[in-house]
Amino acid sequence: MDKKQLAGEAAVKYVEDGMVIGLGTGSTVYYALLKLGERVAEGLRIQGIPTSEATAELANRLHIPLTTFAQNPRLDLTIDGADSVTPDFHLIKGGGGALLREKLVAAASDRLIVIVDDSKLAQTFEGVSIPVEVVPFAWETTAARLAEIGGRWTLRMKDGKPFVTDNHNYILDTVFDRIPSVPDLESTLKRMIGVVESGLFIGMTSTLIVGYVDGARIVEVPTA
Ligand code: A5P
Repeated sequence: MDKKQLAGEAAVKYVEDGMVIGLGTGSTVYYALLKLGERVAEGLRIQGIPTSEATAELANRLHIPLTTFAQNPRLDLTIDGADSVTPDFHLIKGGGGALLREKLVAAASDRLIVIVDDSKLAQTFEGVSIPVEVVPFAWETTAARLAEIGGRWTLRMKDGKPFVTDNHNYILDTVFDRIPSVPDLESTLKRMIGVVESGLFIGMTSTLIVGYVDGARIVEVPTA
């Protein structure tokens, strides 16, 4: 079985009847959603909050009932992928551009289950591209601020135009060669004028499920 499929399906075992579930975005979550759709067809009663328009569309196709924060401000758990994971369980997310909604959904969840294949395990985020979602107005000035703190940024493009997120923002994929502290970098980005959100997810992972060729391994993150 595909490594992403192993991780995705393992996560769905945590889903119980009556839960409200955050539905992540990406090619690993795809497998979790397929499995969830099967369980819903077998009678599982859950409601989902999608982290992107793409996931909402897939959930609709799979007949997974959706809900909103107005009806359900707290979620039991969220299943989502990641682009990179350190041994401290810090994450980079946003490769698919859904980082803002993904962070909002994860922050509203009692538990975040992160599903990746082993290619996503990293020792450091130094030299790794970190998506930073920025306001389109004056985005050039935000890019200059990123450069001032050592970020080498690239404006994400799609079909010859700036890529626009579900929340109508741009993304600056930004590489830092030196990151003395990932949490400090996250705080710095958060405070920067023009930055809407960064793809650094710090202290949010509850469970990490890693797909390897021979199966999925599950790591429960100790609570601080
Ligand atoms: C979407 O914006 C991302 O955060 C994804 O969750 C992340 O890129 C992982 O995607 P894959 O499972 O497709 O690698």
